[in-house]
Amino acid sequence: MKTLVIVSHPYPEQSHAIKALQRTAAQQPNVTVRNLESLYGHNPQAFDVAAEQEASDGADRIVLLFPIHWFNLTPMLKAYLNQVWTHGWAFGPDGTSLKGKQMLVVTTTGATAHLYSEQGLIESTVEQVLTPMKASALYVGMEYTPPLAFHSAMGASEEALAGFQQAFAERLRA
Ligand SMILES: Cc1cc2nc3c(=O)[nH]c(=O)nc-3n(C[C@H](O)[C@H](O)[C@H](O)COP(=O)(O)O)c2cc1C
Repeated sequence: MKTLVIVSHPYPEQSHAIKALQRTAAQQPNVTVRNLESLYGHNPQAFDVAAEQEASDGADRIVLLFPIHWFNLTPMLKAYLNQVWTHGWAFGPDGTSLKGKQMLVVTTTGATAHLYSEQGLIESTVEQVLTPMKASALYVGMEYTPPLAFHSAMGASEEALAGFQQAFAERLRA
C-alpha cells in the first residue's frame, strides 16, 4: 500500500511532537511525506494544485498529520482541502479521484485523554472533534479509518515521543 502523509504545523520552530512523527513517517517504506509549510510557507494561496493532486493520485492511503489547535485543523491544512480537493476532481459529477482511498488522521493534543471524553471538560471525544474530517472523507468516497491521537503532547518527554513514534510506525505498517 502506498501512503501519502500530508503534514501541517503553523509554528514549525516550536514543534516537537509533529516533527518527531514526521521523521517516523519519512523512515517507513512506501511512504511519501509532504509538509505544507515547508512547501508553501504560510500562504494559503500558494498551493501547486496539480502537484498535490498528482501526489494523492499515486496513494492508496492519505494520512493527515497535524496538531489540534483550538479543536480544529491547522490553517494550511484547511486551505489545502479548499484548494486541492476541488469540484470535478474530488467531488462533483466527474470528481472521483479520492474514491476508495483510505484516510487516516494522526493528531497531537496538548490536553489529556480525559479532557477528550464525555466526562471531560469539552464533553467530546477526539473522534467527535474530528467529525469534519470524517464527513469530508466520506463525502469524497474515502474509507475513514479510526484516527490516531496522541494526548498530553505539549512538552512531552523523549520517552513519550518515542511511544508516539512507535504507535504511528505500527499503524503505517498495518
Ligand atoms: C495556538 C494553539 C492552540 C492550541 N489549542 C489546543 C486545543 O484546542 N486542544 C488541545 O488539546 N491542545 C491545544 N494546543 C496544544 C497543541 O495541540 C500541542 O502543543 C501540540 O499538539 C504538540 O505538538 P507539537 O510539539 O508538534 O507542537 C494548542 C497549542 C497552540 C499553540
